[in-house]
Amino acid sequence: MDVFTAISGRRSIRAYKDIEVEEDKISKIIEAGRLSPSASNRQEWKFVIVRNKDSRRKIAKAAYDQNFIAEAPAVIVACATESKAVMPCGQNAYTVDLSIAVSYMILAAHELGLGTCWIGAFKEEEVKAVLGIPEHIRVVALFPVGYPNQNPTSRPRKSIDQVVCIEKYQ
Ligand SMILES: Cc1cc2nc3c(=O)[nH]c(=O)nc-3n(C[C@H](O)[C@H](O)[C@H](O)COP(=O)(O)O)c2cc1C
Repeated sequence: MDVFTAISGRRSIRAYKDIEVEEDKISKIIEAGRLSPSASNRQEWKFVIVRNKDSRRKIAKAAYDQNFIAEAPAVIVACATESKAVMPCGQNAYTVDLSIAVSYMILAAHELGLGTCWIGAFKEEEVKAVLGIPEHIRVVALFPVGYPNQNPTSRPRKSIDQVVCIEKYQ
């Protein structure tokens, strides 16, 4: 699958089959995150693979009862191991770096026939408590990984005209 096919075919999946995900597929998803770019190549990240059912249930609860998260046989929790670096442009490096890594991982999962859903609505402290994540570590995002049990149609996107301007900002 080429990159554009993956980008255009990926959907957020909110229903999963009760089937395990093969270890080598999880490894490949993690590899996509490991190889992703980061500011100054700092790679200040750690990805927690959660298969334990009780932990997945607790994470779903911490994510405002988005119970489909626990349906998936694995959840990957993307953590920033340093959160003070600010780029010259004024943006925090860790949110950008982790978002790139998660984007790569969810596209890799799609290529492997797996579904994911980026989860940004969660109580960070609760997720940290479930997984024993230290105080100074930030949880930027998490996502369930599993075989899709739904085939959603594409969500609407703004048109090119709405999001692009030429030469000057308009
Ligand atoms: C930063 C971010 C946070 C999100 N948080 C959630 C979430 O907590 N729960 C959820 O069901 N979907 C979440 N989504 C998924 C979006 O709702 C979804 O990407 C968007 O509606 C477009 O649909 P698509 O992913 O199928 O193209 C999030 C997506 C992003 C990028």
